[in-house]
Amino acid sequence: MTSYKEPYRPRCHFTSVTGWLNDPNGLVFYKGEYHLFFQHNPKGTEWGNMTWGHALSADLVQWHQLPDAIEPYGGGMIYSGSAAVDHNNSAGFAPDRGEHALVACFTHAHKPYGQALAFSLDRGRTWILHDHGRHVVPNQGLDECERDPKIFWHEPSRKWIMVLWVKKGTVRFFKSNDLKAWQYASDFLTEYFYECPDIFELPIAAETPGSRWILHDAAFNYWIGFFDGNAFRAETGPLRGDFGANFYAAQTWNNMADRRVQIAWMRNGKYPGMPFSQQMSFPCALTLLRSAAGLRLHRQPVEEIKLLYDTLSYHDSFTLKPGMNPLAGIEESAFDLHFEADLSSAGAIVFRIYGREIRYAPGQHVISALGQAARLTSDNGLIKLRIIVDRTSIEIFGNEGAVSMSSCFIPDSGSTDFKLYTESGNAVIKDLSIHRLNSIWQ
Ligand code: FRU
Repeated sequence: MTSYKEPYRPRCHFTSVTGWLNDPNGLVFYKGEYHLFFQHNPKGTEWGNMTWGHALSADLVQWHQLPDAIEPYGGGMIYSGSAAVDHNNSAGFAPDRGEHALVACFTHAHKPYGQALAFSLDRGRTWILHDHGRHVVPNQGLDECERDPKIFWHEPSRKWIMVLWVKKGTVRFFKSNDLKAWQYASDFLTEYFYECPDIFELPIAAETPGSRWILHDAAFNYWIGFFDGNAFRAETGPLRGDFGANFYAAQTWNNMADRRVQIAWMRNGKYPGMPFSQQMSFPCALTLLRSAAGLRLHRQPVEEIKLLYDTLSYHDSFTLKPGMNPLAGIEESAFDLHFEADLSSAGAIVFRIYGREIRYAPGQHVISALGQAARLTSDNGLIKLRIIVDRTSIEIFGNEGAVSMSSCFIPDSGSTDFKLYTESGNAVIKDLSIHRLNSIWQ
């Protein structure tokens, strides 16, 4: 048990009660519940004993951890994978059409690795290995550690699709009628690709009709292109989806009709002395927008963050001059900060959050934070930032999610070093609102 109040326990990011976690797995929405499975070591705070942990949420932000869902068998650990709702009962797992089977496809990590299935007939509470966990996709002979199947239903071809990482630089597509027998479809080759593929279609904002497919790897290098049920053809890429220090193995939810929501492992955060290790990123909605540079992904925290809003500090429009500090007095461990300013007569602006710096230099169009930097263009000096601060993480969203940076840190104990200042000149602040965030743990 935990009070969720340990010193380095994030307030509004998912962590396991105890033990290590890494990749989000099996993200699927079904009957009002968001499922978050995750790579879990139930026995320690280091990587190992990989098992699918499980948590549920009705709103994507407040989570409730359930018993582990899929445990190692046959000498193999349960590595990353995905889950889907079998609406047509194409696998025949559901005894009748009243309850749909949830189907999980994962890597059975026993060399040479293969891909296996489990299913649930009770809304994800308990899982049964299909065919005793035998591989439905055997090792392809390209790498003994082929892994991380992402499955989804492709309506135009009325087939199940699997994209699988088969070796450095190659992902392989398969198709199936019944989730059990998989037929080779194509390979997508590119030198960059490394583990945890995800692929999904997004509408192009404000263009009807118009859509593209996004394919990305664990480091969130992404390609924009077309998928016809057999092969992915890239039009653009690779592009970088996140510029922070700790964003890895992201996956999006299957079976959400209205939007595409993504969560990632914030890889390599530090949680000294805690009964758990590692946290997930805040769930973000992905959109595809056309900019001067071409189509680009945008990431923004899901609207449901508002369910966590507590008190608000709001500053009406004002001019930030040297010597002022509108962040004085902040002591909260978690907040959602919105900032909009005209920096045309300012040098760089700096946020100090627990003593960590986020610096934006409008002349160079560069934002830097926690050792990372990204290009963020200001339009005639106008800039928008959204910063979600939790006990051990800072996530920055520039210009409505055009740039995101997700990073972890360890706060110095008792630090109240919160500042906002310009290095030179005056900044015209149009919006500075700071919503304190309540804990997601009930
Ligand atoms: C990515 C990864 C996956 C693998 C899992 C094992 O972080 O290495 O490729 O399935 O973690 O925990």
